[in-house]
Amino acid sequence: MTTATWDPSLYLDFHDHRSRPFHDLLARVGAVSPRTVVDLGCGPGHLTGLLAARWPGATVTALDSSAEMVASARERGVDASLADVADWMPTAETDVVVTNAVLQWVPTHRTLLPRWIGAFPVGGWFAMQVPGNFAAPSHALVREVAAEPRWRDALQLRAELAVAEPDAYGELLASTGADVDVWETTYLQRLTGADPVLRWISGTALRPVRDALDPAGYAEFQDELAPRLRAAYPVRPDGSTWFPFRRIFAVARVR
Ligand SMILES: C[S@@+](CC[C@H](N)C(=O)[O-])C[C@H]1O[C@@H](n2cnc3c(N)ncnc32)[C@H](O)[C@@H]1O
Repeated sequence: MTTATWDPSLYLDFHDHRSRPFHDLLARVGAVSPRTVVDLGCGPGHLTGLLAARWPGATVTALDSSAEMVASARERGVDASLADVADWMPTAETDVVVTNAVLQWVPTHRTLLPRWIGAFPVGGWFAMQVPGNFAAPSHALVREVAAEPRWRDALQLRAELAVAEPDAYGELLASTGADVDVWETTYLQRLTGADPVLRWISGTALRPVRDALDPAGYAEFQDELAPRLRAAYPVRPDGSTWFPFRRIFAVARVR
C-alpha cells in the first residue's frame, strides 16, 4: 500500500488532461447492463460519476486508500470507502471493474490481476490504465535529484519499475483465458503557465518527496528540480510546453 498522501485539489489541477485516458479506457468496455461497477482507487471521485452516467442501472461503488480522497469522493456523492486494492476481491455480481492511474502505486498488482480475473463472473470486464512514463525525464529527474548527497538519506525513492510493458499485461491477462485488448498511447499534452511539468508532477509523482521532507526541504527540492525540468521540457515562444504523457491500457473480458 502506498504511503504517499494525496491532495485532492492539487490532483484536480489538470483535470481535463488527466481524465482523457479514463474516457479512452471506458470506450473499450462493452458491458451493457452490469449489476455492480467498481472504481478501484477512485481518487476524488470526479470520474466515478461517469461510470454511474454510463450504467445508470448499476450499483457503483468505489474505494481508495487515501482518507482525503475518500472524503472528497463522498462529497461528490460517490459511495466510496477506505480500503487498499490489495485487499479487494470481486463478488459474483462484479460485472465491471475500472482502475485508472492506480496500480503503479501497488507493486504487487501483477499478482493481483489473475486472482481478480479468476473471481469475476463470466462476462465480467476488467479495465486498467497505468502510466508508462517511469523513464521519462519528468520522473527520471526526480530520481536524479533525490540521489544527490543533499537528499539521498531522506529520500529512498522507488528505483525499480512498478509498471510492466503492454505485452506483459497482455500475456498475463490472456493466460487467464480472458479476451484481452491492450494498447498504449502517448498524449502530447500542451501545458501553459510557469513550470507546468513541475506543477503536474507535484500532484502525483512528487507526493512521496513531499511526504519525506519538511516544507522548507520540499521547497528546496523543487528549486533544484525546476531548472532541470525546464531544460527537458522547454517553453515554446507562444508560452506553451509540450509534455509527452505515455499511458498503458489493458481491458479483459472474462470467458
Ligand atoms: C493518480 S490517482 C487516480 C485517481 C482516479 N482513479 C483518477 O483516475 O483520477 C491515484 C489514486 O490511487 C490511490 N491509491 C494508491 N494506492 C492505492 C491502494 N493500494 N489502494 C487503494 N487506492 C490506492 C491513491 O490514493 C489515489 O487516489
